[in-house]
Amino acid sequence: MSFFLSLCGIFFLISLSTYAIPHILTWLMPQQNFLKKYGRRGVKPWAVITGGSSGIGFAFARKAASQGFNIFVVAYPDEHMAEVAKMAQDAKVEYRSIAIDFADGPLSDIQRRVSEETRDLDVALVFLNAGICIFQDTALATENNQRLFDANVSGNVRVFFSLYPRLASRPLEGNRRRGGLIMTSSQVSFFPNPFGCFYAASKSFWSSMATSLGPEAYAKGVDVMAINPGPTETRVFTNMHDLDSLKMFRKFVQQPAAIASLVWKTLGRLRMFSRDAGPLTWGCRLVTKFMDSYVMYALFSMAAHKMSDYKKYIEGREPKPLVHCAGIRQVTQSMKA
Ligand SMILES: NC(=O)c1ccc[n+]([C@@H]2O[C@H](COP(=O)([O-])OP(=O)(O)OC[C@H]3O[C@@H](n4cnc5c(N)ncnc54)[C@H](OP(=O)(O)O)[C@@H]3O)[C@@H](O)[C@H]2O)c1
Repeated sequence: MSFFLSLCGIFFLISLSTYAIPHILTWLMPQQNFLKKYGRRGVKPWAVITGGSSGIGFAFARKAASQGFNIFVVAYPDEHMAEVAKMAQDAKVEYRSIAIDFADGPLSDIQRRVSEETRDLDVALVFLNAGICIFQDTALATENNQRLFDANVSGNVRVFFSLYPRLASRPLEGNRRRGGLIMTSSQVSFFPNPFGCFYAASKSFWSSMATSLGPEAYAKGVDVMAINPGPTETRVFTNMHDLDSLKMFRKFVQQPAAIASLVWKTLGRLRMFSRDAGPLTWGCRLVTKFMDSYVMYALFSMAAHKMSDYKKYIEGREPKPLVHCAGIRQVTQSMKA
């Protein structure tokens, strides 16, 4: 028995330390100069950011601009585009954009427009970040979840198809890397998210992409990573004030700039293809080290129907369907209707 317990202890320590050491080491390291790492002499490189007009994407755009990258934003057509244009002007870098709704219109248009409008640019960094979040009884959410899937997965996939082959064939110069590809995932990519099932699944898609593509692309000279933030102070989070379950997460909210800082500390280092960001994400990951996910899912299923949100929205005390999101105006409008 004691042999068995010692073995369990050893496995747990290995699991914990192989998780904590790369996270702590990269956290202690200084932020990298991506211009030196991915830029080429005599050419000003571009960073393409989907959803770069606000929140986490805006923080990526600001950080890249501060290091001298020109900025190309692909985002929902609204007033936020002007803010990022102003930011680029202040940082004295060039700025271009495509205002397009990922959830409305043929997906092939996204790929064609991104390919055409970046053709003359030296794209060195790509951030697949645009996304929305919806909490609703999945049985009622078909239309909203279709929009979410198009925005979070399909639209970004089309940008990936346009730009990843170009990153992978960018000329190598000295000991510089060809480029970087960053995908904004989430803590819910590995943790149950009842009522936000499509959101969680859309984020798992990008985490899975990063951990498979990362090892494939590394040898080619392209650095790939998924960043898994917990609650972050952006419209995705602030627009969800009505959810009781999210109120307790307010204590753990982090700033978008902190997410950008972790990307600048991590990309291409220690072959870390997926990185958790923020205390809640680290806590959730630790739970997965203590217990098998089977037990965790079972515990969630025991608790889900006792949540106040479930009682309010699923059992019909609030007959209006719960749709909280940011980024897609049509969905917000349908909520008000
Ligand atoms: N905030 C959090 O707690 C949190 C936690 C984990 C992961 N994330 C992820 O972080 C990413 C960025 O979200 P955020 O928190 O920074 O929220 P945000 O401020 O609302 O940013 C979302 C970005 O995506 C764009 N976008 C949304 N729908 C789009 C569509 N249909 N077509 C094209 N662009 C669209 C928005 O464009 P406009 O600004 O023009 O509307 C905006 O630039 C998302 O993928 C989200 O899932 C957020």
